[in-house]
Amino acid sequence: MINKIASKLGAKTLSSDVKNVTVTGGAGQIAYSLLLRIASGAFLGPDQRIRLQILDLPFMQDNLKGVQMELHDCGFPTLDEVVVTDDYSTAFKDTDYCFLVGSKPRGPGMERGDLLKDNGKIFIGVGQAMNDNASRDCKTIVVGNPANTNALICSHYAKDINKKNFSAMTRLDHNRALGQLALKAKCNVSEITNVAIWGNHSPTMFPDITNTTIQGHIARDIVDNEWETNHFIPTVQKRGAAIIEARKLSSAASAGSAALDHMKDWVDGSNQWVSMAVNSDGNTYGVPEGLMFSFPCTTKDGEWTIVEGLDISSEFSQKKIKTTTDELLSERQFVEDLLK
Ligand code: NAD
Ligand code: LMR
Repeated sequence: MINKIASKLGAKTLSSDVKNVTVTGGAGQIAYSLLLRIASGAFLGPDQRIRLQILDLPFMQDNLKGVQMELHDCGFPTLDEVVVTDDYSTAFKDTDYCFLVGSKPRGPGMERGDLLKDNGKIFIGVGQAMNDNASRDCKTIVVGNPANTNALICSHYAKDINKKNFSAMTRLDHNRALGQLALKAKCNVSEITNVAIWGNHSPTMFPDITNTTIQGHIARDIVDNEWETNHFIPTVQKRGAAIIEARKLSSAASAGSAALDHMKDWVDGSNQWVSMAVNSDGNTYGVPEGLMFSFPCTTKDGEWTIVEGLDISSEFSQKKIKTTTDELLSERQFVEDLLK
């Protein structure tokens, strides 16, 4: 019966299984665009039935009911059920994929690291609830800032879930880099390869075009050093603040879109490099063990792999990677008490 209805609506055959997808901060601005796209099949495809498990704080439950109504009103064949809740066990019950958005955004004049004191604590409870309730194979993206260190806290408390299943979002920075390069070279983003974001989702991140090609040519033969150093890198590093300044609110639609790109490429695989912050094993590019550090990665069969063997030996690259590493080390030190 479900499949008859689905075929009338243009889908092929709906899956017999249902995947559980958790989104936290469901009443917030990022979730408002992200949820619709997940529900429509843009994440797991037009045939995969999903159950959305949406969490927000108790005082946001009325708002969340409105979001639930809108999701029902879309009539997506892929959407089996929409659970809205303020209860962590319900939100993370048998979940297969987690989009951890719920947390405070920064305002004008703040850095993302300033949020660590308030937002870091949220990820203790989330990590514990995931450990108690989520599928052992659950894949997680942390979007809430400061995303890298929040992901570190979360994975620390989800002790029985492999750290490889946790990540933090630097895909927005990666997409911003692609956008800036495409504007400069007057080409389509699909004609640009091998962009990398290293380190923290903060102004210390290193947007790296050493290996980038544009329309098959070496990017540094097309864009000059002055533009790369004085325009491209700072624009990508400070784009979040520029959007807050302009919108008086932090980025939302582009952030939701990047979260979807990140998770979709992780699940489906990607032929292109993608940037994602993942757990450092201590043996790759000299990044200390245990930091959630953004690397260029490839994805295949539901696994990410750091692109190895890249030349980062120039003084320029070394300096940039050291700065962002040092910042992540100091963030980890700042939350030392939370990591006991
Ligand atoms: P928002 O204020 O619009 O929404 C956040 C939602 O989270 C609110 O509904 C709030 O009630 C909820 N929330 C707070 N604490 C919670 C908790 N303990 N459990 C469940 N829900 C909780 O904010 P937003 O614009 O959607 O941004 C959310 C976060 O994402 C912020 O920290 C922001 O800085 C971050 N962000 C990260 C990136 C990135 O690239 N990594 C990009 C954009 C925004
Ligand atoms: C972004 O990069 O847009 C987000 O991290 C929001 C912010 O605080 O900059």
